[in-house]
Amino acid sequence: MTAPGFTAVLAAAISLWMVAADAVAQSATYRERYRPQIHFTPPVNWMNDPNGLVHYDGEYHLFYQYNPFGDRWGHMSWGHAVSPDLVHWEHLPVALVEEDGVMIFSGSAVVDWNNTSGFGDGARPPLVAIYTGHRPADHNQSQHIAYSTDRGRTWTKYAGNPVIDIGAEHFRDPKVFWYAPDERWIMVLALAEDRKVRIYGSPDLKQWTHLSDFGPAAATAGQWECPDLFELPLDGAPGETRWVLQVDLNPGGRVGGSGGQYFIGHFDGTRFTAENTDTRWLDWGADFYATMSWSDIPPEDGRRIWIAWMNNWQYAQDIPTAPWRSAQSLPRSVSLRRFDDGIRLLQQPVRELERLRGVRRVLGPRPIREGTTLLEGEGIAGTTLEIIAELEPGVAREVGLKLRTGPGEETLIGVDVPAGRVFVDRTRSGESGFHPAFAARHEGPLILENGRVRLHVFVDASSVEVFAGSGETVITERIFPAPGSDGVALYAEGGPARLVSLEVWPLRSIWPQP
Ligand code: FRU
Repeated sequence: MTAPGFTAVLAAAISLWMVAADAVAQSATYRERYRPQIHFTPPVNWMNDPNGLVHYDGEYHLFYQYNPFGDRWGHMSWGHAVSPDLVHWEHLPVALVEEDGVMIFSGSAVVDWNNTSGFGDGARPPLVAIYTGHRPADHNQSQHIAYSTDRGRTWTKYAGNPVIDIGAEHFRDPKVFWYAPDERWIMVLALAEDRKVRIYGSPDLKQWTHLSDFGPAAATAGQWECPDLFELPLDGAPGETRWVLQVDLNPGGRVGGSGGQYFIGHFDGTRFTAENTDTRWLDWGADFYATMSWSDIPPEDGRRIWIAWMNNWQYAQDIPTAPWRSAQSLPRSVSLRRFDDGIRLLQQPVRELERLRGVRRVLGPRPIREGTTLLEGEGIAGTTLEIIAELEPGVAREVGLKLRTGPGEETLIGVDVPAGRVFVDRTRSGESGFHPAFAARHEGPLILENGRVRLHVFVDASSVEVFAGSGETVITERIFPAPGSDGVALYAEGGPARLVSLEVWPLRSIWPQP
């Protein structure tokens, strides 16, 4: 009898592990304490950045930084899910696994429509993933590619990897797109320690030429990570466009720890130049990081949609959830609008989320008296809700909503009128002792229009996302209230205010119901 070969043993071990992993995944009920009901989470284990966002053949692919072996960061691989509508997700097996001492760090994916890579099988264009290979042994970070010819179900790592290796330690997170005017691929990635975005070009996704660097600029207090670059029409200016360069940094975010900023400018196929030198935050909350936009959304749709990791490296590994850890934000469509002080990015929840709405409750115009008015009597309560509130602060110093209220718990979505700020206060939101920085109030700028403010809010089992105004200020925060804290209230301080209108929808879970 001959001893089984190493490959056979390895294959047996992997399939045993897959069976075990599957059994663990089956144990997820999606009814666990703090389990988001309208946000993507893996059934079990650790997740961080969204990766490889690409639309192909009617499916949105979401890959993500994933540890198949535990609920903290490690063994980085690409987890995988697909969705027909950006809302309901089907979990698929891990797409790219750590192998030969190389972890699979963040990166992107594209449809190679013209088969420039030659990976196609003649029947369909290949999907190509471009990611950072991280070698823990010597910290080297280089860029790799892998391809799929079966709608992303199975992936083959390119035999010629790495495709870019400059011998650097902090060189990661490639985002690739097709630049039609020059008929070539463009890659942006971070030289993290240098606070630079490096730009490369390629005819075939295999041979890459260094074109230019952008940065350091604006916020530079932490490593730069996960850049994205795309063109958007300028609202209200027919034919005019701008390029948006999105760059994350950690630490040094607006409220500490991880945060994202953007630059508005021009890209000529080689070089990005910014129009702004000030720091523009993507999100004014603590939990919106490593933002990435989808590639290849059909032109007839035309939206630019992105999603981000709804967590913060400050406390990411300590948040009190099990058997999984971390969630992705709601998908948002982004646009540009010119304001008096320049061009700003607007973010709106994607319209597909409306499919989750249950029966709407509406409150018409009425005074909001000083103090707190619970809305239980109006049939308004819940832990998974969409709320659109229009408020007129009037003489009040502060006005807003209290959500997830219960014994000793409340999360405030408020307007600080004299300061011209909108804020989320999670100091009394529930469990927060896992990190000293967690219990805090985070605020962003607010412009009242005709003395009114519009707040579009999504509440989930362990998060709130607030889109203020037309989406020019967004605040994303994790919260960990008791499941029974489901109260919703209006409140005013320093004088009465006025409710113009309130619409509230209970939202259906995106997960299979028991
Ligand atoms: C951002 C990040 C990326 C890196 C990945 C590793 O959160 O640090 O720069 O590729 O996570 O998991």
